[in-house]
Amino acid sequence: MNAMIVTSAGDLDWRRVPDPIAGPGDAIVAVRATALNRADLAQRSGNYPPPAGESDVLGLELAGTLTHVPAGDHDFAVGDPVCALVAGGGYAELARVPLGMLMRLPRGWSFVEAAAMPEVYSTAYLNLVLEAELRARERVVIHGGASGVGTAAIQVAKAWGCDVAATAGSAEKTAICLAQGADVAIDYTKQDFAEEIGAVFEGGVDVVLDMVGAEYFGRNLDLLRVGGRLVIIATLSGAKATIDLRELMARRARIVGSTLRNRPLEEKVSLRDALVRDLFPRFEEGTMAPVIDAVVSIGDAEDAHARMRANENAGKIVLVVAPGSDERP
Ligand SMILES: NC(=O)c1ccc[n+]([C@@H]2O[C@H](COP(=O)([O-])OP(=O)(O)OC[C@H]3O[C@@H](n4cnc5c(N)ncnc54)[C@H](OP(=O)(O)O)[C@@H]3O)[C@@H](O)[C@H]2O)c1
Repeated sequence: MNAMIVTSAGDLDWRRVPDPIAGPGDAIVAVRATALNRADLAQRSGNYPPPAGESDVLGLELAGTLTHVPAGDHDFAVGDPVCALVAGGGYAELARVPLGMLMRLPRGWSFVEAAAMPEVYSTAYLNLVLEAELRARERVVIHGGASGVGTAAIQVAKAWGCDVAATAGSAEKTAICLAQGADVAIDYTKQDFAEEIGAVFEGGVDVVLDMVGAEYFGRNLDLLRVGGRLVIIATLSGAKATIDLRELMARRARIVGSTLRNRPLEEKVSLRDALVRDLFPRFEEGTMAPVIDAVVSIGDAEDAHARMRANENAGKIVLVVAPGSDERP
């Protein structure tokens, strides 16, 4: 098959490699579309290696059709359209996917839409619903609100009945946050987000979902009201921060750090089950959908990476791997 390999110089190389081998309990998917994640940039620069035993081909999500299914008690068959979160191997013509990670395409969705869904909705659900234990009518701050994860997180928080403030780096991006349902969107290049959010949500907020890290840490903590939760999922501005522990105690606050990719398979399978149970009905009734920034050929992956590196994307960049990616099976 062809797959995207990162060369020792850090370049992308779409080249012939051996087909993936299905272990017991694994399916093989003929990939029609995959999608970019910020993690791909980090993996490429050598800062985010795949977990042991996983493919070193880039790509954390995919949609396509099954070419192999393992024997056993399940109702998947060769030819079925599916999508999945994977720990690697998405930028390829064929990918190995543990059976428990397979999801059917939400009814009415194309392979392109389905490829844009697994990583960002898994991340949003995991961190807001499971880690932060989001409850209806809570106040939530979503940083990076126009990112792939941010747009999904705004949708999830609104679906859970929360009030949402989002931050983003331009007027175009704050407009996208509002279009996803955010009640307030702050362009952090023009205004201090903590002052603005503090004025709107007097008394503080319950949950902050943060990918910015060090630069926002103090202000995030200051925004929390009693019982608040700060969930940190990335450190785009840096990873070292100091904290006055009394602030944490006075608020009886929780700081949670979380990654998805290196979690045990059983946890990812139960997250998949939760997505299918709680989000698929919304996908299928059309009240929740991934924001797609661009759809480009896998041959243009280099340009797509440059777009993400420059923070130009709002929502997901999808890579088309094989013809028929816009079919709605
Ligand atoms: N822990 C986990 O399990 C997990 C899972 C998935 C993703 N993530 C992380 O979540 C983040 C979003 O992922 P994604 O794939 O959705 O990324 P994305 O679409 O590339 O969005 C990232 C956005 O972050 C903003 N940003 C970048 N540097 C910044 C800085 N120094 N200060 C403030 N904002 C900055 C930019 O938006 P503006 O132009 O608005 O600044 C950028 O577009 C990534 O950092 C990713 O690694 C973590």
